[in-house]
Amino acid sequence: MQVSTHSHGESLALGEHLGQWLKAGDIVLLFGDLGSGKTTLTQGLCRGLGLPQNEYVRSPSFTLINEYQGAIPIYHIDLYRLDTIQEIETLGLEEILFAGKSVSIVEWAEKLFPPTNPDAFLSFEIDKRVEIRIEINSETDRLLKIAPVNLGDRTLPTFPLH
Ligand SMILES: Nc1ncnc2c1ncn2[C@@H]1O[C@H](COP(=O)(O)OP(=O)(O)O)[C@@H](O)[C@H]1O
Ligand SMILES: [Mg+2]
Repeated sequence: MQVSTHSHGESLALGEHLGQWLKAGDIVLLFGDLGSGKTTLTQGLCRGLGLPQNEYVRSPSFTLINEYQGAIPIYHIDLYRLDTIQEIETLGLEEILFAGKSVSIVEWAEKLFPPTNPDAFLSFEIDKRVEIRIEINSETDRLLKIAPVNLGDRTLPTFPLH
């Protein structure tokens, strides 16, 4: 599914709508360049997951992993500062991703699948996931390609945007 947003606020609203659809155990992988809106979308997802609006969601670029208490616990992971699969492996992501009690949102998911080094694979496979690829079309326009992978018969909600 493809959705366009035309402002920061529209991406927040889109995230909120999608966040309401997420369930414990879900893994959201965000792909897209710096400034494409991964953190903005995450803020919306967190709202949709019941995080109070006054709680501040920002990129965990330095802390790498932030945890929020929404109606469902949320892990917000940012791989920006990690360059190799070996570094990523030190995070112990499996325990977070596969415990089934939280929603996990991963910025810079590209780093999990390094195209330049086909010999370096993660020691675990992220089988069920929602992939969201964000493309920058202009300063305010974003194209979001949203694809559930191996989520059985769960279908995406219909978005009020177009
Ligand atoms: N349609 C849009 N969707 C999301 N962000 C937008 C949009 N238009 C402009 N922006 C701006 O782009 C920037 C996105 O930043 P951020 O969410 O931190 O991106 P990332 O986490 O991908 O680096 C913000 O400054 C935001 O206000
Ligand atoms: Mg970010």
